[in-house]
Amino acid sequence: MAEYKLLLEHSHDPLFKTLAGYKATGGYTALPKALGMERSAIIDAVKAAGLRGRGGAGAPAALKWGGMPKEKKTQHYLICNADEGEPGTFKDKELLENCPFELVEGMTIAGYAVLGDVGYVYIRGEYMDGAKALRNAIDEAYAAGLLGKNILGTGFDFDIQIHMGAGSYECGEETALMSSLMGERGMPRLKFPSAPFPVISGVFEKPTLIHNVESYCNAPVIVNKGAEWFASLGATTKNSRGTKIFSVSGHVNKPGNYEIEFGTPLRELLELAGGVRGGKLKACIPGGSSVPVITAEDVDRAIIGYEEMSEVKSMVGSGGCMFFNEHTDMVKLAWRSAVFYANESCGKCTPCREGTRWMVQILERICKGGGRPGDVEMLRQVASQIDGRSFCPLGDAAAWPVLAAIRVFPQEFEYYCQHGKSMIDSKPSLVGVP
Ligand SMILES: Cc1cc2nc3c(=O)[nH]c(=O)nc-3n(C[C@H](O)[C@H](O)[C@H](O)COP(=O)(O)O)c2cc1C
Ligand code: SF4
Repeated sequence: MAEYKLLLEHSHDPLFKTLAGYKATGGYTALPKALGMERSAIIDAVKAAGLRGRGGAGAPAALKWGGMPKEKKTQHYLICNADEGEPGTFKDKELLENCPFELVEGMTIAGYAVLGDVGYVYIRGEYMDGAKALRNAIDEAYAAGLLGKNILGTGFDFDIQIHMGAGSYECGEETALMSSLMGERGMPRLKFPSAPFPVISGVFEKPTLIHNVESYCNAPVIVNKGAEWFASLGATTKNSRGTKIFSVSGHVNKPGNYEIEFGTPLRELLELAGGVRGGKLKACIPGGSSVPVITAEDVDRAIIGYEEMSEVKSMVGSGGCMFFNEHTDMVKLAWRSAVFYANESCGKCTPCREGTRWMVQILERICKGGGRPGDVEMLRQVASQIDGRSFCPLGDAAAWPVLAAIRVFPQEFEYYCQHGKSMIDSKPSLVGVP
């Protein structure tokens, strides 16, 4: 298997960012088709295609589309989550910068299907180039009657607005994102079953469809090529359909974004990225910093799919795939990760606010040579008490990398505590001390 480019096929063509260039490659053929369909037929197609959200959790998209009210009693909102704060993930950056019309067309189709009025694109604050490219695309779409009032003369009105984030990872969590969009502090809110799903009460307490950039970009493909065709991609997996863009980084020869069909072996993704550099492969974090690390042996047997990755005790996540060579110090890597999550913890709940800082303190002590007997067990206990006990999934995301590193590389932690130094010659490593 090689790359399978559906969304990134034209990403290196600068003209693809212009309406004329996008149309020249078949862009904007899906929207007129969708506007001629029953709304329910579009939602049925998304269901039959087996599209799952690309933001991390892999929830079936049709559950959300079909969950939006079928009758219009109030405004319906769409949100595109372009916050992309997960370390190791930079695929939405490329989609925004190089393929902005895919997002605009995809959101417009989704807006039509769920009786949407306005779509907000919440963009990570640092993504200035992506925001500019999207701004140009939105402006061109308005000028061509593809956004705004009476789109393509069908009577359907839909607007898209850009909202820049301010650099908080937590604002990528959907309820915190909605609070931030409403001008409140970017802290998460209660979720189902204690509160309604966003499709019932989301931003401004109105029905809201929220998806990742890549998820919306798949909508024109499904409408154009058909659900059956889309569902044939990844058919070797249990329940993962279509393609997935992976941001590959770390000790590889050709880091970058690679779009592959679900069902591709993880090893092939590494080969696409030019293989390991600087030594033998030691480990991989396949789906962004919050997902559990796996060994080189796991890389050899892992198949890319939402269920399949659980067989190696990891996840597809947001597709931020980091490979590490044999010189990587896994304890320092766990420390680096813990520092990130402690900094990004919003402080609302005690297990995450306190626990992430305790993890940093213990890991720092170990890495600086002051590890004590029992430190590894204490670290494991602290992480276990954050996992599953925090108000939002950021707590789990902070605990999993530490728990996985202790489970997969216990000897490295013990060696540090016994000898006051690393057992790894980590000089060529990319992993710096925070
Ligand atoms: C701490 C945290 C950060 C997140 N950051 C992002 C993000 O940057 N982009 C994203 O699409 N989803 C992110 N998510 C997941 C969102 O909460 C949400 O599930 C997603 O936007 C739904 O889109 P999807 O259905 O297309 O996957 C994050 C979740 C958590 C807990
Ligand atoms: S787990 Fe708690 S402290 Fe951590 S980000 Fe979520 S709400 Fe905030």
